[in-house]
Amino acid sequence: MPRDQYDDCWLRYDRVSEDQRASYRRRLKHAYVAEESPECTAVRDELREAIPGLLDEDVHLWQHRPETVDGFLAIGTPGDMEVIAESIPDGAVDDLDDDGYLIRSVEYEGQDCLVVTSGADQGLVYGTFHLLRLLNMGEAIDEIDVREEPAYANRVINHWDCPFRRTVERGYAGESIFDFDRLPDLRDRYEDYARLLASLGINGVVLNNVNTEYYPRGSTNEASQEFDGWRLLETRRLEDLTSLASVFRRYGIQIYLSVNFGAPKRIGDLDTFDPLDEDVRQWWREKADEIYDLIPDFGGFLVKADSEGQDGPYNYDRDHVEGANALAQALEPHGGRVWWRAFVYGSHEDRAIQAYDTFEPLDGDFAENVTVQVKNGPIDFQPREPVSTLFGAMPETDLGLELQITGEYTGQGVHATSHLPMWKEILEFDTHADRQESRVQDFFRGDGEGVVGVTSIGEDRTWTGHYLMQSNLYAFGRLIWDPDLDAETITDEWITQTFGADEEVIDTVREILLDSWEACIDYETGGLGLIHMMHNGQEYLENHYLPSPGEWPGYHGATEDGIGYDRTSSGSGYAQQFREPVAERFEDVETCPEKYLLFFHHLPWDHKLEDGTTVIQRLYDNFYDGVEEAERLRDLWMSLEGKIDDRRFEHVATRFDEQVHQAEKWRDVITGYFYDFAEIEDEQGRVS
Ligand code: GCU
Repeated sequence: MPRDQYDDCWLRYDRVSEDQRASYRRRLKHAYVAEESPECTAVRDELREAIPGLLDEDVHLWQHRPETVDGFLAIGTPGDMEVIAESIPDGAVDDLDDDGYLIRSVEYEGQDCLVVTSGADQGLVYGTFHLLRLLNMGEAIDEIDVREEPAYANRVINHWDCPFRRTVERGYAGESIFDFDRLPDLRDRYEDYARLLASLGINGVVLNNVNTEYYPRGSTNEASQEFDGWRLLETRRLEDLTSLASVFRRYGIQIYLSVNFGAPKRIGDLDTFDPLDEDVRQWWREKADEIYDLIPDFGGFLVKADSEGQDGPYNYDRDHVEGANALAQALEPHGGRVWWRAFVYGSHEDRAIQAYDTFEPLDGDFAENVTVQVKNGPIDFQPREPVSTLFGAMPETDLGLELQITGEYTGQGVHATSHLPMWKEILEFDTHADRQESRVQDFFRGDGEGVVGVTSIGEDRTWTGHYLMQSNLYAFGRLIWDPDLDAETITDEWITQTFGADEEVIDTVREILLDSWEACIDYETGGLGLIHMMHNGQEYLENHYLPSPGEWPGYHGATEDGIGYDRTSSGSGYAQQFREPVAERFEDVETCPEKYLLFFHHLPWDHKLEDGTTVIQRLYDNFYDGVEEAERLRDLWMSLEGKIDDRRFEHVATRFDEQVHQAEKWRDVITGYFYDFAEIEDEQGRVS
């Protein structure tokens, strides 16, 4: 697909305003970039792309210091260049993580320079993109002094792309961008994707879906059958992957694969995949050797085992430690890592209980190179869930946080729902675990830990199916680089780079994005902590998109007596998996925050909330408020007509119409469903 047929997202490099141009020109028209590594090639390519756009003039790339000009940009490690070694104080770079960097304006032998430096080439890529972000936003650079390091060592994107079929599970932006059948042929889109990710500091990509095989669950859902990602471990497929790995390598991004736990039997000629069988372990060792011969910087394996029909150690009565460690021993000599998902169901009637019950007792037993990857909430990326109780409960285990960038339950790329406020809420939650810092964001900071996001990328021109939803990918990357960034800052950065610096556009789009999540919670769930009221349709685009509370009585607990799920000690006990004082706060109906109330409590319909309103009335009100909010957000967008180019304006406007329509549907179906149980009319006569 030619480059002009898909969007360049936030890497637009439009010409800067006249007042900045002179200063930018002085330091950017000439660039001197270190030569050694693939990453430096990417840096040079990016400058060739960016500077002519920003300055409307070509950039001169030098192979040595350009002594005859007034100023220049220097990008390299101190070892690469004298100008950097001499203008940056001793030790300033040695103190940085490999991914960290400095950006400084300095004077060197009478020349005005801008230095981007790091101890490692990867840091040079991130530093360059940081500088380009500032330029895209029109920031002054004459006295710049930036020092950056990422909060988390592993910042990884998970694709749920199904190789060969090119579908994307829970992706709403068309086909998979990865054409595995045509590898080793490369497409421009791979490189442009790597650029987008590197500009956010992402350093790992899992290329294929965690569901690597047929997905039974009794579904006849076309799109979820015949997952054959397990084939990627076949020798010829691994050979094909080398070209893709080399594209990502230039941007400091490691590739990973989701693997099928049954691979020794499926691909190898063994008749077992028992993780304790010596032949099985040997098979994994040989497979790992083969992979690392081809891709020396391969990141490792992601595994969904014993969950939703995927094979796992339970097939042989082994546990998750035995399963994960069998793969880990194979990757260990190569420095590879196993990301083992904690998304499991089990014997418990309440799914929320399961992950903690299964994994917490295994703390300390996983191999050094295993990371247990935990979804943010105990159920499944619902519009809002309390955080997983595993955070803080496995101090002897490397943990990874799994967030969802795509919008399976938040409007599926049709609704404009920003996940950034949700991620802030999750990261700021104080678990009160037994350690100094115990907010969720304080975990995942070890070398083998990190944060991963399930992506929404596809072949669509927009990449994310919705121009505004590019902001979720952007926000994910920025937030996991620095979780202390506030939502406004990240959102403003994205808007300015994507739509330009018009104040009205910035204010309006910021308001839309930052208010969108609460609106979605209200019109889809009623805002009191209810979950799982969607349709489990057979048609792919209906699946989990439309409302259908009658399909899931066990999740929301609506009966004639009341509504909600009792997860207190008299119910399933999930509240008690938290540390005190959190457990007590959730356990007690008086102190449980309203936003989680019905997640933890089953209450009579006429139970009175703090302000005297009944539960059912609050639900009615919230559902109606949610729809009004969706309408208001649409109006806000419509007020931008003429300020945004037609293509993007119309695209978003059309989707907003659909969003409002669907919001009304969710409201009407669910309030009607509740009314049938409660038989209590809405005080304002809207539901009867
Ligand atoms: C949800 C989602 C599936 C996905 C699963 C997972 O159940 O609906 O499509 O495979 O989560 O995270 O593994």
